[in-house]
Amino acid sequence: MQPETERRLAAEALDRIERRALPEAEATMPIDGRRYTCASALAGEIEGIFRRHPLPLAFGCEVAEPGDYVTLDIAGVPVLLMRDDAGAVHGLLNTCRHRGARLLEGAGQVGKAFVCPYHNWAYDRCGVLRAQPAGEHFPGIAVGEERLLRFPTEERDGLVWLLLDPAGTLDLDEALGPLGPELAAFGLGGYRHRGSHDWTKRMNWKLGVDTFLEYYHVPILHRASIGKTLFGTVFLYEACGRHARLVAPRRSIEDQRGDDPATWRVLPHATIVYRLFPNAVLVSQGPHVELVRFFPDPARPDTTACRFSFASPAEDASGRDWEEMMRLALGVLDNEDFAVMEGVQANLAAGLQREIVFGRNEIGLQNFHAVRDAALGP
Ligand code: FES
Ligand SMILES: [Fe+2]
Repeated sequence: MQPETERRLAAEALDRIERRALPEAEATMPIDGRRYTCASALAGEIEGIFRRHPLPLAFGCEVAEPGDYVTLDIAGVPVLLMRDDAGAVHGLLNTCRHRGARLLEGAGQVGKAFVCPYHNWAYDRCGVLRAQPAGEHFPGIAVGEERLLRFPTEERDGLVWLLLDPAGTLDLDEALGPLGPELAAFGLGGYRHRGSHDWTKRMNWKLGVDTFLEYYHVPILHRASIGKTLFGTVFLYEACGRHARLVAPRRSIEDQRGDDPATWRVLPHATIVYRLFPNAVLVSQGPHVELVRFFPDPARPDTTACRFSFASPAEDASGRDWEEMMRLALGVLDNEDFAVMEGVQANLAAGLQREIVFGRNEIGLQNFHAVRDAALGP
């Protein structure tokens, strides 16, 4: 975040805390619960959103070294992110050119080449076919030329983005819009990956995103955990193109009131949530950042693969126990937020109460769902 943005947000936070004034939408927004439960709604989202818009897939430091890889299932499409010898990250279809076997699982590191577990076809770190046992039986398939299907992929300022359409064009300037320079200022390219966690949850992918978009619930649901350090329900909200930024100040922000406003900071005194369209949140906690992504199961509106990754500056002398901090963050999400969301999913699936409502103080939810609707078109 740029220093002038920090000063502006710190001033706004101190003002809102004093006035107890929340950013509000014009009106409440009724929502038909079937957008979370209906198979055709999910099919429309996969076609109209997941396959058309660049997806924020990973921290670059999740695949820090040549040969590092991570596998992800994105709305039913198996994707392999891999860093090559020149330092570029490739987004490849995790499917063998021979007969379609899955090539790699989980995350890890491969040598100069990796082999398919079925018949040992070998691929290099760019996805080019390098060896083929008994290749004389495959005339026309040229080692050194044949390659895995590749998605348009770009690593920028420490985040890897991918377009789930191999024939499409990834226009990251357009996708990031006004948020580009602000994300760049975080310097995530200098961060180190401290760990990741994967869950499969019985909730629609949007419920995962929703949980980050309002602070109304924080003093209640999180009263025994993060609720103690945040300023009640006070938050700041700004839409940034299709994305958005929420700032939840911590009590320590008040310590600056007597200082010269030119020195005011917000990053050390707030939880900052960037909702990255369509399916991710990047959360700055001050000393570290978290990236949470939600990938729908195309066959089940109520099932979502969630991937949480934790990173902090590579040059860090603070002596913080990152493992413990990650354990705490995972506990809040799993035991508090996602537990409630799985209940919401089951209740909406019962189908008796069709309508739910986003309040005027839930402007972040209203905006996310409006952006989702606009992306789907009429
Ligand atoms: S399916 Fe991969 S080598 Fe046969
Ligand atoms: Fe929460």
